[in-house]
Amino acid sequence: MQGAYILATGSAVPDSTISNHQISQFVETSDQWIVTRTGIKERRLLTGYNQSVIDLAVIASKRALQKIDMNPHDIDLIILATSSPNDLFGSASQVQAKIQAVNAVAFDLTAACSGFVLSLVTATQFIQNGTYSTVLIIGADVLSKWTNWNDRGTCILFGDGAGAVILQACPYLENAILGFNLNTNGQYSNQLSISYKEDKLVNLNLPIMQGSFDYITMNGKEVYKFAVSQVPLSILKCLNNLNISIDNIDWLLLHQANERILTAIADKLSIDLRKVISNVSKYGNTSAASIPLALDEALYQNKIKKNDLIIISGFGAGLTWGTVIVKWIY
Ligand code: COA
Repeated sequence: MQGAYILATGSAVPDSTISNHQISQFVETSDQWIVTRTGIKERRLLTGYNQSVIDLAVIASKRALQKIDMNPHDIDLIILATSSPNDLFGSASQVQAKIQAVNAVAFDLTAACSGFVLSLVTATQFIQNGTYSTVLIIGADVLSKWTNWNDRGTCILFGDGAGAVILQACPYLENAILGFNLNTNGQYSNQLSISYKEDKLVNLNLPIMQGSFDYITMNGKEVYKFAVSQVPLSILKCLNNLNISIDNIDWLLLHQANERILTAIADKLSIDLRKVISNVSKYGNTSAASIPLALDEALYQNKIKKNDLIIISGFGAGLTWGTVIVKWIY
């Protein structure tokens, strides 16, 4: 079995920002309410005609490639974690074409805010079993396109962005993806969803129903309780399996949903808040993008050092949640 490690990261966010104050001009809310309940101050929104998740994913990917001067022809596999593709058949192939990764097979992985964690685990399997050597994993979402901007319960939370990592087979058989724990409870899928609604009957002798996707709907309180109760359990299971003590952890990198959730999970695990990586105040919840975006920023700020142990956990619609423990080895 060959090991896997993260070799490079990149990220991209749109230029346009929307502040809490701006949101308070079209729904009844306030900067104070949003900051107190979520820690979010502003988010980035993809604006302009014909702009899609692909544009952000391509920029993030190119930035990761440029950092290590890698030829895109060297990529074997591209996994695009997104729940906001611009083609229901998948968007990864368009990213493949745009970055000219001509030798890569490419597919989308839909797992909402856990999409990056599931993609990282999936990519690791391909590397560890020796099938592929170099995988580009992108978490990218433009949930602004699926947000009901009249719903103050959800429109305050989400922002657009993309983050990319290049995962590669390790030299010298070292392995940086130490272990993982993944979970799904589909009984609660209705707590957070962008559901398909049928509203049209096409009568071709057979009654075929057609429709379209709705806006994001969410039971905020239940999702909050789910995250704060289940994510620490996933982390502890993962650490126990690896025989790693929580005291040896250097960084807690959670899906950036809400500052209160990050703090509550850290408190439950008795992790010092200085070890919690957070940029949710600037970008809001960017779904599958949030973890690689925060990782890229933390590396840029020189926070993460060689041999640091990082807990990476994602959680969200599905409901699906999971943890990967990573050792930073470069
Ligand atoms: N501005 C002002 N008031 C708001 C509001 C807003 N944006 N949204 C809701 N309210 C009101 C409600 O109408 C309610 O009023 P009432 O008491 O008169 O009925 C009150 O504030 C409390 O609403 P509630 O929904 O109970 O608030 P909350 O404390 O649960 O906070 C969330 C709401 C969404 C911030 C919180 O539930 C949360 O963060 N949940 C997790 C969401 C999440 O992270 N989802 C993605 C996971 S991947």
